[in-house]
Amino acid sequence: MHLAPYIVLLYLLAAVLFIVGLHQLSSPKHARSGNLVAALGALIAVGTTIDLLHHSTLDLVLLVVAIVIGAPVGAVAARAVKMTAMPQMVASFNGVGGGAAALVAIVEFLRVPAHSSPSLVLSISVVFAVVIGAISFAGSAIAYTKLQELMRGTPITYPGQQPVNGAVAAAIVVLGVLVVVGTLSSLGLWLLLLLALVLGVAFVLPIGGADMPVVISLLNAFTGLAVAGDGFVVGNPVLIVGGTLVGASGTFLTKMMSDAMGRSLGNLLFGAFGKIQVSEAAGPGGAKSVRSGSAEDIGTLLAYSQRVIIVPGYGLAVAQAQHVARELADVLEKRGVTVDYAIHPVAGRMPGHMNVLLAEANVPYEQLKDMDEINDAFKTADVALVVGANDVVNPAARNSPGSPIYGMPILNADEAHNIVFMKRSMRPGFAGIDNELLYDPKTIMLFGDAKDSLTKLVAAVKAA
Ligand code: TAP
Repeated sequence: MHLAPYIVLLYLLAAVLFIVGLHQLSSPKHARSGNLVAALGALIAVGTTIDLLHHSTLDLVLLVVAIVIGAPVGAVAARAVKMTAMPQMVASFNGVGGGAAALVAIVEFLRVPAHSSPSLVLSISVVFAVVIGAISFAGSAIAYTKLQELMRGTPITYPGQQPVNGAVAAAIVVLGVLVVVGTLSSLGLWLLLLLALVLGVAFVLPIGGADMPVVISLLNAFTGLAVAGDGFVVGNPVLIVGGTLVGASGTFLTKMMSDAMGRSLGNLLFGAFGKIQVSEAAGPGGAKSVRSGSAEDIGTLLAYSQRVIIVPGYGLAVAQAQHVARELADVLEKRGVTVDYAIHPVAGRMPGHMNVLLAEANVPYEQLKDMDEINDAFKTADVALVVGANDVVNPAARNSPGSPIYGMPILNADEAHNIVFMKRSMRPGFAGIDNELLYDPKTIMLFGDAKDSLTKLVAAVKAA
């Protein structure tokens, strides 16, 4: 399609805003404005597309109807969603994006007049967008269903699963080539759509519910690539740029998450991901002994410390204890104690989980320290205060080959002079494995819900 120069310029502006927004998203300080900048880019892209279609009343009406239905649904869902349900929300938005990309490609292919054959670029782009978009749609739907607990969240495996998936993938490749060379036309494309939907479902079924954020990130990248494919199909530069950005950033995020969890991408994709072995966890009355303390004793320890490092984890999110955590840090700082938060890249259950939680409680950004930045400081810390975290400080990641988390970089909480664990029981974390650090002579357990325990600590520090 030939585009007027002002349309191209507006699309270019939208693409630049996407890039600037994405760049700002990489730091918690600018993430909020990054989101707004990217949203402005999307608004300009949609507005430009409406302008592009103004000569066709039908297209225009359909577009406005889609916006009138879609915008309120998106806005209400985004405002209403609980922080812990964010991965499902991303999965659903992502899935519909992939589905839409597949449908746009099919419609464009069907529009090619019967007597003329589509160009090679068009056929390849269509096949690519249909396959990748449909896998993303079906995979995201299964991810959503698992995370929303509408179906069993644990890995669903059956004998011959990988060979069957491989056969479906091979059939997709053969069919795709046949469509591209023109042997099969619309019927082939519908078949391709069906097989890609089957593969999307089959690919996500063996993945465990709590591992889903990594897969959602991968599917997100898929949707981006499918949209970029659509960009070639309809000749729209902003789709190509926007889709490629999503594809690239999603791929990087997937790689970073799998690295931070100590897993290879291959293991992630084909290793019945999330199928973890739950070890026997010793209960409070188990064979090994643990030392537990009262909030008063621990409050005194904190109050007379020079440096405290708070290690937040999934339990902080479950207990919604971020505001009290900040209150504790504030009362400690008032007494002259230096307080930092050590942020592990996969603490919690979604990328940036701890950053988002702590930002919600207005914790100053300077106090949020990445793993590499803070790890050396643990040896000079009087207390590592582990709030609802477990796997991210488990030394098994360093010392136990064969452990499911072996190789995962961890926070060096074990190097602090004292370690205080705030959790409700001796139950393991996500990886389902025991944590030796709970039995370390330097460790004191403060059993209970993180919010209650932190509230007691605030009172104890004030009274010290
Ligand atoms: P976990 O190892 O899962 O440990 C969380 C701990 O919080 C549990 O041991 C639990 O112990 C405690 N807890 C739960 N509710 C609590 C409450 N109300 N009050 C106090 N404590 C509570 O968490 P982590 O250290 O943050 O590690 C994250 C894990 O999730 C890693 O294994 C990571 O690979 C995985 N994961 C992360 C992501 C991303 S992207 N962040 C995605 C998928 C998986 P009790 O039951 O005894 O209270």
